Amino acid sequence: MTFDLFDDLLPETPHTEPLAAGAVILRAFAHAAAPALLEAVARITASAPWRHLVTPGGQRMSVAMTNCGSFGWVSDARGYRYEPADPLSGQPWPAMPEPFRTLAAEAAQAAGFAGFAPDACLVNRYLPGTRLSLHQDRDERDLRAPIVSVSLGLPATFLFGGLQRTDRTARVRLAHGDVVVWGGPSRLAYHGVAPLADGDHPLCGHERINLTFRRAR
Ligand code: SIN
Ligand code: FE2
Repeated sequence: MTFDLFDDLLPETPHTEPLAAGAVILRAFAHAAAPALLEAVARITASAPWRHLVTPGGQRMSVAMTNCGSFGWVSDARGYRYEPADPLSGQPWPAMPEPFRTLAAEAAQAAGFAGFAPDACLVNRYLPGTRLSLHQDRDERDLRAPIVSVSLGLPATFLFGGLQRTDRTARVRLAHGDVVVWGGPSRLAYHGVAPLADGDHPLCGHERINLTFRRAR
């Protein structure tokens, strides 16, 4: 097995890697907070369970999703949008936990985006084979705020391209605790995730969890 145990037991020394103009990888930034973040994910999914959304074109997404915060991202036959309530329960999404808010603001600040106050967090679950095809995050009202994306559990290959779908994509490995921030000239960059390779993560088993923080409204 090529999975690198040491990545998770002995994280990289935190450091910043440039990805594109306005986009950086903050290696190991969330490593210390990860256990608390994962506990919070378990509480969120107890009231807003994982579900597979359907694209407007009728495709079931292989990523399982839920949300917390004032708004949650949803997709169905009517399109992509943010909703203040979980369509499964009719109840507001679970509140954004304090450790989520703090980590997202600190990561944005470290990437050069001061004052980030997310009102939405999309929580994604990948199992072996799960992928996310190239897309832009463009359903948010104010594109001045960056996207902050936290990787937990199994490592993934993240694809990060340009402003056109056909632009070449960089392939970067994201390990447990890594955070990617993209904004400014990269805010509408196409991105996705290659099919997840199997592995056994000490905290997450066969799963990868991703948190993406957004300013929706
Ligand atoms: C996303 O684009 O919403 C998720 C990206 C990731 O899982 O790393
Ligand atoms: Fe995205």
